[in-house]
Amino acid sequence: MQINVKTINPAADKSDCYLVAVQEGGKLSPAASQIDSLSDGQLTRILKRGDIKGKLNQSLLLHDIAGIGSTRVLLLGTGKEAMSDSQFRGLIRTAVQKLLDANIKNVISALAEVEVKDRDATAIIQLGSETVTHALYRYSQTKSEKTPTPSLHHWTWQLDDKKLHKQAQTAAKTGQAIATGMALTRELGNLPGNICTPTYLANEAKKLGKSHSLKVTVLDQKQLEQLKMGSFLSVAKGSRQPPKLIVMEYHGGKKPGNPVVLVGKGITFDSGGISIKPGAAMDEMKFDMCGAATVFGTLHAIAELKLPINVVGVVPTCENLPDGNASKPGDIVTSMSGQTIEVLNTDAEGRLILCDALTYSEKFKPKAVIDIATLTGACVIALGKQASGLLGNDQALVDKLLSAGNKSDDRAWQLPLWEEYQDQLKSNFADMANIGGREAGTITAACFLSRFTKKFKWAHLDIAGTAWDSGNNKGATGRPVPLLVNYLIGEAGKG
Ligand code: BES
Ligand code: MN
Ligand code: ZN
Repeated sequence: MQINVKTINPAADKSDCYLVAVQEGGKLSPAASQIDSLSDGQLTRILKRGDIKGKLNQSLLLHDIAGIGSTRVLLLGTGKEAMSDSQFRGLIRTAVQKLLDANIKNVISALAEVEVKDRDATAIIQLGSETVTHALYRYSQTKSEKTPTPSLHHWTWQLDDKKLHKQAQTAAKTGQAIATGMALTRELGNLPGNICTPTYLANEAKKLGKSHSLKVTVLDQKQLEQLKMGSFLSVAKGSRQPPKLIVMEYHGGKKPGNPVVLVGKGITFDSGGISIKPGAAMDEMKFDMCGAATVFGTLHAIAELKLPINVVGVVPTCENLPDGNASKPGDIVTSMSGQTIEVLNTDAEGRLILCDALTYSEKFKPKAVIDIATLTGACVIALGKQASGLLGNDQALVDKLLSAGNKSDDRAWQLPLWEEYQDQLKSNFADMANIGGREAGTITAACFLSRFTKKFKWAHLDIAGTAWDSGNNKGATGRPVPLLVNYLIGEAGKG
């Protein structure tokens, strides 16, 4: 889909549909009033008859309004007060659904003038462009009937102030690149474990490298052995699929320039291993590579935007399965860092693959390392589906991520990483255990990772609750690509 920004003349400029807003109580937005006067009060008459009251998400599709270049006008209710981000997104989704139902191809949207809390027109255009593009994603790879591509082709944001056009155009491009990155994240997440294996992800990385000029290196089992990644390999050894460590380098910044390293958990299926999970909803553990998929999607977006920054993606990927050769509770493994780990629960496998990937990241002399992982069920209990868990060893980095999340309506919430929690990881037989008991499960998982991140500024995003939806709308969400792209835009000094 093409997204543009223009100052349009509603009497002359043609489209299949012009989107305008009406508040609850009947107050027309500026663009709606303009249509009203061009059509000799037609909107006022319709409002008087009571067909639409302006309640949030109400809509009314009108045809052949006199004096208007567009063949249709879609009136959208915006409610009484300024909308929240999520209400605004809901409104955009309502509009997109109406447009698709009517098979509409070209629209002009005067929705940049609606009131959204803490957002100016440019910020509305970024979030709106992301939401429109996001709403057009359909999964169909493993269905015999391919979903037809949605009809919508052109979306033009009407914006009066020409001085804002350049900035708004960039915002539209940014929103769209974020949603396109999210679509890659969602597609990889949605694919089943028997297709999306570690080898499949490695091949996808190579494809992404070719299409978006990334330098991609894939380390195989032998190389992981040479690097002494005993912790990562201990998870992989219960599976017949060989593990991979995928490294993707994006050079958009100065040539030596310390990169931001993104480390993504890539468990392509998590059965729990010998500490096997109960059966209910176990299929959802195909989503246990959504951290990895987020790294792919984020790199896709920043490469598309050509951000002047260096970013490295590091993805440890394998399956966690029970097998005669699988790790057993009580086994002790030696990580790449040299620290030994007692594996008390083979279902706490994410941290076991991440710790070696974090140690490996030291070689890039990173200015910051951010890992993204569907790490703990405890995080879903603590924060639900609204916020990703955020912990780290550098408050300035954490603050930047929090504000990037707020800016992109992809929020995170910080949990404490106090040293007192470290005691829960004590082991009688190794340097640490891989679990810390029932209490504060998200924090003790981060405590575990913190022992491998002493040499750099580090933050950890636990996306167990945010990476996918369950129930009727089961599917990967593409979060937290918006948070990360907004953070990287800030780091690139552009936003
Ligand atoms: N991938 C899971 C975490 C998870 C569970 C994410 C449910 C989303 C929904 C992770 O590998 C895991 O199994 N964690 C255990 C850790 C425990 C054994 C300390 C958990 O959260 O139960
Ligand atoms: Mn697990
Ligand atoms: Zn897992």
